[in-house]
Amino acid sequence: MSPGPTPVPNFALAAMADSVRYHRGPAFSEIMSRCRELLPPLFGTKQEVLIFSGSGTLAMEGAISNFFNPGEEVIAVNSGKFGARWADQARVYGLKVHEIYVERGKTVDLAEIEKLMSPNIRGLLIHASETSTGARHDVKGASEIAHRQPNCLVAVDAVTALAVYSVPTDEWGIDIIVGGSQKGFMLPPGLSFGSCSPRAWEKAQSVKNVRYYMDWRKERKAAEKNTGAFTSPVTLIGGLRSVLEYFNKVGVDSIYQKNWKLCFASRAALKKMGATLLVENDIHVSPACTAFMIDEKFNAKAFPSIYSMTLAGGQDELKGKIVRVGHLGYMDAWDVLNQLIAIGRLFEKAGRKIDFGAVVETYMAIVESEEDFTPADLK
Ligand SMILES: Cc1ncc(COP(=O)(O)O)c(C=O)c1O
Repeated sequence: MSPGPTPVPNFALAAMADSVRYHRGPAFSEIMSRCRELLPPLFGTKQEVLIFSGSGTLAMEGAISNFFNPGEEVIAVNSGKFGARWADQARVYGLKVHEIYVERGKTVDLAEIEKLMSPNIRGLLIHASETSTGARHDVKGASEIAHRQPNCLVAVDAVTALAVYSVPTDEWGIDIIVGGSQKGFMLPPGLSFGSCSPRAWEKAQSVKNVRYYMDWRKERKAAEKNTGAFTSPVTLIGGLRSVLEYFNKVGVDSIYQKNWKLCFASRAALKKMGATLLVENDIHVSPACTAFMIDEKFNAKAFPSIYSMTLAGGQDELKGKIVRVGHLGYMDAWDVLNQLIAIGRLFEKAGRKIDFGAVVETYMAIVESEEDFTPADLK
């Protein structure tokens, strides 16, 4: 029940139990071809979506090494563990990073981006969903600011946004977007994704970094032949095809709406328990997870030991201070309710009086409602 890896549905497990295909043979080509057809609409792009053998951090690193030269200046939004990671990766590749530190649980103030933006800035690194806090940034607004400059590429980490809520890559002017398999894609860890705009591709031709395995140009050439540049993770890609077919069948909008509903139902239930939410403002939430504050009386260790449940705690400076409820991927209303009941029990053991009937009532009122809980700026 953590915000990734998320549970894997049986149909995807069954697809991955199929025979291991030869990565240059026709059976695998057919799988790749279907993934190449179904991925771009999910990303809201007309561009190729590349599939990499490695976790999200690899795609994040590729987004730096393939599109930015050492010495170039970028703005990096650091609103949590993953924003901090991207800024670090950029520094490792010799970029000059103007970092915007965002208080944990808050969203970036676009005026801060505007203040640092100049014709010298070659990139903006931002997250569509910062999983370590459960906050969402206004990527569309940030992208508009960046595109007022002639040469600023907008790079978006959408590891817990893709297949979780709608991120229309082309419409928002995103130049480079990355994702990972173990979140909204409901697959085991091991795959990551990357897509980029024509102007980002053009820049990639002149970037001077040494690249061998993580060369997006090589992967694109291979993808055009329905294969990978090296030996593809054929089993995971078989699983990917099954998940993409599922999204296609049920309509991905229904999944986004489910996630928003579970997010706001969780927030309401946690507030009913008297919990303090890390992301206070409803406008700033990501539907990937909801974080709430804990103190030393809250025994988070009981999740695995007493309730046989995996809930994620805080990372880095939030370690020991928060618990995160996952509501993305293959989780339904009952999975999330189980987490909330266990949380309520632990609040009770810590001395707080919980009216479980009222909590369930509050939660179910949202789950059963016909209302669309998608935030206004995303409709
Ligand atoms: C927003 C975000 N970015 C990047 C990553 C890193 O991805 P991975 O752990 O797959 O390398 C994660 C993983 O949780 C994430 O949530």
